[in-house]
Amino acid sequence: MKDKLEQILKEFRSGLETLSQQPQILKYKSDALGKNGQLSQILKSLKDLSNEERKVVGPLANKIKEEMNQLVASKLKEIEVQEINQKLEQNKIDITDRMVNRSNSLCHGGLHPTSLIQREIEDIFISMGFEVLDGPHIEDDYHNFEALNIPSDHPARDMQDTFWFQTEDGVRKFLLRTHTSTIQVRGMKDRKPPFRFIAPGKVFRCERTDASHEMVFHQLEGMMVGEDISIGHLIYFMKTVLKEIFKKEVEVRLRPGFFPFVEPGFELDIRCLICGGKGCSVCKQTGWVELLPCGMVHPRVLEAGGIDPQKYNGYAFGLGLDRLVMMRYGIDDIRHLHSADLRFISQFKDF
Ligand code: PHE
Repeated sequence: MKDKLEQILKEFRSGLETLSQQPQILKYKSDALGKNGQLSQILKSLKDLSNEERKVVGPLANKIKEEMNQLVASKLKEIEVQEINQKLEQNKIDITDRMVNRSNSLCHGGLHPTSLIQREIEDIFISMGFEVLDGPHIEDDYHNFEALNIPSDHPARDMQDTFWFQTEDGVRKFLLRTHTSTIQVRGMKDRKPPFRFIAPGKVFRCERTDASHEMVFHQLEGMMVGEDISIGHLIYFMKTVLKEIFKKEVEVRLRPGFFPFVEPGFELDIRCLICGGKGCSVCKQTGWVELLPCGMVHPRVLEAGGIDPQKYNGYAFGLGLDRLVMMRYGIDDIRHLHSADLRFISQFKDF
């Protein structure tokens, strides 16, 4: 009897190995363990055995039944795992497929030429110890004008055509910043001299557009405050930056310029890099291109920034980024930069 039981288990095991479908296996199990199965027959005939035999055969038969159940359970598990793996294999997504097969038709993004130049300039200034600051596009009257020594009745307010936000009481409080100089006072308040920072970003003017004017354009503000700062420092830093960008020595000149927040104020011009100074349409036949309004920070502005003008001084400048982009790439109309025309924009892809 014992041998018979062992034999049943052996046959059951090898029969099971030949099966691979769940329904077949379930049927195989119920046949083997069901009422008419060999094992049930043996269990039924236990009553005919002697007590001694029953003590051995009974537990053994149950043990074998248990083992058969386990064999089936692990076989079913094995099949389930196989099926999952098969499905995963069939549904596999090759994420490189499109790139490899259709790279010609794929449209890659790229950086706008203004962003390219901005990043380059940021890197150069950072290498010279400047911080890079950011500020809000929607500004208040105080940071755009008041703190920059432009009180409400000052005629210089007209120099910058401003987009104001409407308020219920009609009082002008908020505006789209007309220049990045708004960051001068914000930056000074958080710092103790000596410090130097730049602040690039969009500015907005309510102006008629033409080849050299846009309503939205980019400036890069710069400021350096400490003891005994002079315009010579400014010229040195600017020449270094321009030399890096244009990969050649750049000739500069200073002319007096008026801005209420600097005293004295200047316009820094560079020798036209397109014609080398001979005269062309970019420099309007003068040989010089106006690039950088700048000057020594006005004592009242230092005070507004919480800095003692008796002890410290500094310079500030407002670089026109779009103009620099135009010079660098020989673009003759600023409106191209905002046109979102892909034929124009895709020429500057950096990859
Ligand atoms: N904010 C001035 C403008 O937009 C430029 C400027 C900046 C001039 C800093 C002097 C110093 O016209």
